[in-house]
Amino acid sequence: MRTSRYIPETELEMQRRIAGELNREIEPRGLRFYIETFGCQMNVRDSETLKGWMYEMGYSEATDKENADLILFNTCCVRDHAEKRLMGNIGALKELKDEKPGLIIGICGCMMQQEGMAKKLLKRFPHVSLIFGTNVLYRFPEMIRTVMNGERIAVTDRAEDAIAEDLPKMRDNPRSAFVNIMYGCDNFCSYCIVPYVRGRERSRRPEDVRKEIVSLAESGITEITLLGQNVNSYGNDGTTGMTFAELLRYVSDVSGLKRIRFMSSHPKDLTEEVMQAIASLPNVCHHVHLPLQSGNTDILKRMNRKYTREQYLSIVNRLRELVPDIEFTTDIIVGFPGESEEAFMDTMSFVEEVGFAAAFTFAYSPRQGTVAAKMEDQIPESVKKRRLQELNELQARKTVENNEKYIGHCGEVLVEGCDFRGTETMLYGKYQNFKMVYFPGSPDLLNRYVCVRVTKTNKNSLLGEMIHA
Ligand code: 5AD
Ligand code: SF4
Repeated sequence: MRTSRYIPETELEMQRRIAGELNREIEPRGLRFYIETFGCQMNVRDSETLKGWMYEMGYSEATDKENADLILFNTCCVRDHAEKRLMGNIGALKELKDEKPGLIIGICGCMMQQEGMAKKLLKRFPHVSLIFGTNVLYRFPEMIRTVMNGERIAVTDRAEDAIAEDLPKMRDNPRSAFVNIMYGCDNFCSYCIVPYVRGRERSRRPEDVRKEIVSLAESGITEITLLGQNVNSYGNDGTTGMTFAELLRYVSDVSGLKRIRFMSSHPKDLTEEVMQAIASLPNVCHHVHLPLQSGNTDILKRMNRKYTREQYLSIVNRLRELVPDIEFTTDIIVGFPGESEEAFMDTMSFVEEVGFAAAFTFAYSPRQGTVAAKMEDQIPESVKKRRLQELNELQARKTVENNEKYIGHCGEVLVEGCDFRGTETMLYGKYQNFKMVYFPGSPDLLNRYVCVRVTKTNKNSLLGEMIHA
């Protein structure tokens, strides 16, 4: 069996020691941090580690940027005009830095791993003093110490693709937690920048994953989401001795764990063994986020997705056979280079046929360095926009249709929040298969499991009444 590269314990001890030393300086001064997170759950999870470090270093959390002594932007570069928005955000902080010279402004996340980006930002924004990538979070205390000593640094070393265990974490959510099971991605879908910025796929040791889940369950967390770019290829790097299905079995008996979610799944790796695990393990939720990307096999081929329209459909059908109440959500890209009107209609007919509970839809945006960005037949923005709108209208109709089948449905809901509407308090939360329901109730029920019956639907949402707590 191969082994992943791990950051040595001695290195982590050194970082903890630096954090302790900084704490003696930072805490008495009452310094505060502010962190803004863009992008996916991976970034949300990374920000929890950064927050954990900042607390360990003696910072407390500021309510806004104006009150902060350390401002961090955790960036994403997967789609859209994130770069422009970031530039605007950073530019706007110049005045604040002029007023408060001790302010540290840092930028991290996927975008910082893009070729040339760190250099460009340091040059353009003299008020930014810290830039680092996704693979060096374990070195955060050392980086802060360097910056506090007056240096400006960028740490985006590709050679750092290793796993660091036991980093601090500050999780805000008392009921639900994200747990990384792997990092990076080896799939190289032709539109996607993730493999270039997050590095090669590497899986965590099963015993480390389980240990983290046990400690979460002991702290009262009842719902976890296992995270990876493609969780179904867990262990494919030959370092874990376990497949994803085996990992699900291995963690499912952790005491107190009521719901296990996972994302994302790649259709090419979703095996019968995984489907059987979803069907047979009582706390594995009946929901699969299964990015489709396109309903046309030729486009899928050009996207390097390695499955056909028919193969995707057979997974859906098989899972529905095994798990009748399963729900699917998906990601779809329209306007990929070479997408003809017919190819787009294949996506439309597929969405019509499958009936996703929800779809996250995107207009293709070229990412520098990816294969698709160099393809010749790029689609005009106006066409992408129109296709996106048509797809969204179709999905909105399918969501309503899907909701209708829930009238009269009764099941357990984990209460996530409440809205105050006039005199009435509406609680909301999800069934285990990811469907959200709103119902009147008392805020005391927050973070608890209650039984809710759906009484009607209202466009996108289900409305219900509580049967019992
Ligand atoms: N353009 C548009 N959408 C993209 N995604 C990833 N890369 C791109 C891109 N270049 C979408 C995919 C993926 C989701 C996280 O983001 O649908 O599943
Ligand atoms: Fe990107 Fe494809 Fe990897 Fe997902 S599986 S992160 S879309 S390369």
